[in-house]
Amino acid sequence: MTEGERRAGHSRRRFLAAVGVGLVGSVSIGATILGSDNDSDIERSTVPPTDQWLFGPFVAGSTAADFDDRGMVPVTVPHCVAPLSWQGWQPDSWEALWVYRQYFDAPTSLLKGRTFANFAGVLSTASVYLNGKLVGRHAGGYLPFSVELTGQLDPRSNVLAVVVDGRWRQDVPPNLLTPSKPSAIDFYQPAGIYRSVTVAQLPQAYLSDVFARPMDVLTQEPWLTVQATIDTNSKLSDVTVVATVTQHDSVLGVGSVALPEVPAGMTTTELIVTGLSDVVLWDIENPELCQVELTLSAGGRQAHQTTVRTGFRDASFTQDGFFLNGRRVKLFGLNRHQWYPYVGGAMPDRVQQMDAKIIKNQLNCNMVRCSHYPQSTAFLDACDELGLMVWEEIPGWDHVGDANWQRAAVQNVHDMVVRDRNHPSVIVWGTRINETLGEDELYDRTDELAAALDGSRPTTGAVKGTPGYRMPLYAGDPDDAVFAFNDYSRLPHPGALAELRPPRPEVAYLVSEAIGTLVGPPTFRRVDPVAAQQDQSMLHAAVHDRAAGDDHYCGLLAWCAFDYPSGWYHSVHGVKYPGVADFFRIPKLGAAFYRAQRDPTEQVVIEPAFYWDFGPHSRATGPGTQAVIWSNCDQLELFLDGRKVDTVRPDAASFPNLDHPPFLADLTVRSGRRPELRIDGYLGGKLVKQRHFSPDTRLDHFACDVDDHSLTADGQDTTRVVFQVLDRYGAPRPFAAGTVAFRLTGPGTLIGDNPFDLAATGGAGAVWLRTVRGATGRITLTATHSVLGSVSAVISTVR
Ligand code: GAL
Repeated sequence: MTEGERRAGHSRRRFLAAVGVGLVGSVSIGATILGSDNDSDIERSTVPPTDQWLFGPFVAGSTAADFDDRGMVPVTVPHCVAPLSWQGWQPDSWEALWVYRQYFDAPTSLLKGRTFANFAGVLSTASVYLNGKLVGRHAGGYLPFSVELTGQLDPRSNVLAVVVDGRWRQDVPPNLLTPSKPSAIDFYQPAGIYRSVTVAQLPQAYLSDVFARPMDVLTQEPWLTVQATIDTNSKLSDVTVVATVTQHDSVLGVGSVALPEVPAGMTTTELIVTGLSDVVLWDIENPELCQVELTLSAGGRQAHQTTVRTGFRDASFTQDGFFLNGRRVKLFGLNRHQWYPYVGGAMPDRVQQMDAKIIKNQLNCNMVRCSHYPQSTAFLDACDELGLMVWEEIPGWDHVGDANWQRAAVQNVHDMVVRDRNHPSVIVWGTRINETLGEDELYDRTDELAAALDGSRPTTGAVKGTPGYRMPLYAGDPDDAVFAFNDYSRLPHPGALAELRPPRPEVAYLVSEAIGTLVGPPTFRRVDPVAAQQDQSMLHAAVHDRAAGDDHYCGLLAWCAFDYPSGWYHSVHGVKYPGVADFFRIPKLGAAFYRAQRDPTEQVVIEPAFYWDFGPHSRATGPGTQAVIWSNCDQLELFLDGRKVDTVRPDAASFPNLDHPPFLADLTVRSGRRPELRIDGYLGGKLVKQRHFSPDTRLDHFACDVDDHSLTADGQDTTRVVFQVLDRYGAPRPFAAGTVAFRLTGPGTLIGDNPFDLAATGGAGAVWLRTVRGATGRITLTATHSVLGSVSAVISTVR
């Protein structure tokens, strides 16, 4: 044994001990090897525990196989290189070179088939070394890449090392060489292997890509064309590819193609599956999905099997609005950034999926824009499952770089469309950089590429709106594109509600952003003046109302769902506050409008856009003559200390196009009085909901709420714990300060500030709990407020 081998073996044992696994951990693999020459001895093999790494700053020699890594720390991927709070992020803390290392043995099967390390997302560039040798490089933080390890693995003690470059000054979109600082764009991008890494073992001949495209969806005879790419190391003969389409486990149709010969390398073939008349369409109400199982055989033997998921739906943008499956649907949505407190983008699948659930189920949106980069596939999977339509776009923000940068942008279109073209939720590709104009040559290339790779979705890109700006249309054929406008039109006069520019009749017209922090107040924090927070709900309502009132708008996606980290215009201590929910995903008053836009037969909502508070931060006379309440009732009755003071109906005159307009009430309270508020909600004359609001802060309590009660003990799985000060009836108390201290017992890790200062976040915040690999049991998090006592959240972690 050489000195290097000895050290590598030593480090490996120390590392595995530190992460609490046996010498060979096993994780599920991307695909199984089927029917090779040695069927009998290809076992379902163990592969490296690819989410467990050693991590540290890059130093010379740290990619070498025999590097002494005793100073590095064990971490779990998804991972962010910098320790972060929920605010005050310093780009200096991630703008450097970093290295991740991992040791693993290669079982026999890994040595027989083809092996790939798949990286779902590394910010911003990665260089991958195997046993000291450079085996792959990738630039750009939002799309996956694979590194083939076939033929380069040793049976024992392989070392995979990944150098991550987190510096801004790289010519990869959205970054630029000039302007040369992270705050030159509107969102921070902390570095790291912040999405999953998997190892796929594949046969020598396998299906490397499948695109299943539903056709003639609205006819009696829908069918599917399937484009399958065969990747083989040697020439194959007598090849067949069979596709089986199922829905709810029943087979709807089968199609196949036979090829006498397939040369070594990549070959793309096409087949069709007809007779799919029983398919149930994917819709926003009933998002039915289909499985398409593909089997590759050569010489009568099955070589590989893989499955993709799709959904049959027809999504048409027209000059007369948007139609889903032939039915007019007004696109009603928000933009989403993917960043989280404490970890940047490094949240695992469950947490990504939660965002889709919040946007669809709590904020009642039917569409989300993934601004301004491709987001995690777990998020898109959830959108498919929930019926939440998606605009997905290439990374970029308000700048286009030089020729190299533009080549990377074109490559991003390729990688984005190939990664996501099977998602029925994705209805439009953003092939233009947000808020850039002209660039006709570049956008001809990106549009043509998207059309060649997909052809079933239109392309788009948001154009900027500033006061007095003449709205420029895209060059080229308007029939292939959706014209999207970030409409930050200023208020026509003080006190007026937000306005929109009229739609352009010659194009399919979508409002891709509105409100944000560019119309009305510059921040919407829970600690801002309540009038501003109430305005946020009214401003969002006003633009959605205008968009709903004219069929020429396909719809409107407002800015934005969640607060996000930023060092740009209107940010405060590194956070920007345009979200209708905060950075922790806790709804603000602005969200009350969205929460009420739902069918009351599903859930009755009564959400005031004010706080029932009479403390030093609020008016002694209460919310005043224009208090806004959002509800899907048709009548509200208001009581102060049990005495009825008003009966109000929705303000349909000012918001004629909303399903559930706001209620405006006079809730002026005589100075010195602090009555209790009760709101009774009626539908068709029947009392359907009652809410109470207490003025008495002495009766306040501290509460916590966990999103999931059971997690998988894989070291990644994570859930959120929200804690907040509430009045005796459960309404928020934004001006409740105090600190919260956390104590955690059981097999979990706390992701969050401890202690947590509630003053800056307005009486509410969140931390996340992550499991420990292999450790099952009960995690108890006890949160103790400096005045209001303790509450606990309990989670069980299972295998
Ligand atoms: C828009 C931009 C968004 C965001 C917003 C600020 O112009 O497209 O990314 O920066 O302004 O509220």
